[in-house]
Amino acid sequence: MTDLHVVILAAGKGTRMKSSRAKVLHRAAGRPLVDYVLATARALSPQSIAVVVGHQASEVKAALGHQSDVHFVVQEPQIGTANALLVAEPALAGASGTLLPLSGDVPLLSAETLQRLVDRHRSANAAATVLTAFVSVPTGYGRIVRSGQQIARIVEEKDATSAEREIREINSGIYAFALDGLFDAVRGIAADNAQREYYLPDLVAIYRRRGLVVETMAVDHADEICGINSRAELAAVSRIVRDRKNAELMAAGVTIEDPATAYIDESVSVGADTIIRPGVTLEGATTIGAGCEIHSGVRIVDSAIGDRVTVLDHCVIAQSRIGDGARIGPFAHLRPDNQVGDHAHIGNFVELKKTVLGPGSKANHLSYLGDATIGEHVNVGAGTITCNYDGKTKSQTVIEDGAFIGSDTQLVAPVTVGKGAYVGSGSTIREDVPPGALAVSAGKQKNIEGWVAKKKRGD
Ligand code: UD1
Ligand code: CA
Repeated sequence: MTDLHVVILAAGKGTRMKSSRAKVLHRAAGRPLVDYVLATARALSPQSIAVVVGHQASEVKAALGHQSDVHFVVQEPQIGTANALLVAEPALAGASGTLLPLSGDVPLLSAETLQRLVDRHRSANAAATVLTAFVSVPTGYGRIVRSGQQIARIVEEKDATSAEREIREINSGIYAFALDGLFDAVRGIAADNAQREYYLPDLVAIYRRRGLVVETMAVDHADEICGINSRAELAAVSRIVRDRKNAELMAAGVTIEDPATAYIDESVSVGADTIIRPGVTLEGATTIGAGCEIHSGVRIVDSAIGDRVTVLDHCVIAQSRIGDGARIGPFAHLRPDNQVGDHAHIGNFVELKKTVLGPGSKANHLSYLGDATIGEHVNVGAGTITCNYDGKTKSQTVIEDGAFIGSDTQLVAPVTVGKGAYVGSGSTIREDVPPGALAVSAGKQKNIEGWVAKKKRGD
């Protein structure tokens, strides 16, 4: 939109969070609060976006991925929302039109509501338009004080009289301002209040005294402008975001057995007829195919799961790709960078790292497979371990197609087991096994007859 500029206020510490982390970095449904606000701002295609950072400035910038279309400005010290806006003035040099200051801690605000706010503001030719909401519990918010129909001023909770605290119309902290003359007026705001801070909402009284047009627009659903100041509010907003995601997935044909315990990030996609059992967490850039079963206690992060995959209870899968029809778990741990082929099986207490397990291959019990390339239809016996680390370097294990690794085998990397080869159980394999060969390294078994009885007699 031409002549539209956004400033996101995100410098505050958020004392009420009782956290060493800046408030806007806290995550609702897996995503930093400020990231929601930036995405909403972008949806309006404004001419410019500035983010005011201060508390943990570099972490906030990093959370937003150092975007090139975003102008970061630093507010130090953080002495109030009016001062935060002033810090952004140089970033807006020569700009005209409408300025939208947004709060970094109001994640559910929709782009449609903001668009309506801008339209209302422009058609009323207002100097300022305040987005408000009517709520049953206004605690913590600034209250909209009216004289007659007109907004007269905004009073913060801490400065309000008990009568003013009864007001149910609250300030969302979101406004549309005409840029013309804005910063001069903001400079006129004083800090004579309970918190000794420069309050941006004080601009309303200043404008009204000057006889400028100040409008309000109430949102239909107060949820949308819910500002997060405490852990309880963070949890409540996370719940709303997750409920929306679950509803969207269920509408698209996914069974979620207990939506209250399904923790599915907005960024995740799930195919139709997949069943999500209770207590499943799906995070980040994860895609789950169609017809899968994801059982209880599973956590999948940044991974691509094919179609008709079964992940049994209590598996952790990170940054891995799983082929169609594979079966994983229960209790499997896939650390980053694995590729599991179609119809492969990974069983209980198996750990994988940087490993390719070919189609139809099986590692069903108690194994560690790290830095390994395993071909098709390989059988990895119980208790097989790739010894990939000698204390200094990590080395590769290669197991070619159709090989059979007996139980309790250690493969001391770098080492290759050739195509179709057999490794006898209990072997320590330090040298390459040629294709089609049998390798055994355990010593010959010796039986000592009558040993137990002799021991009991003590001779
Ligand atoms: C603010 C409004 C209040 C409104 C509420 C809605 C003021 C004084 N009050 O109160 O009327 O009902 O939002 O959610 O504006 N920030 C800075 N620099 C600062 C202070 C704050 O960048 O010096 C940022 C914060 O990081 C936050 C936003 O501004 O993202 C709002 O600040 P916060 O302290 O949460 O204001 P509230 O007390 O919630
Ligand atoms: Ca707030």
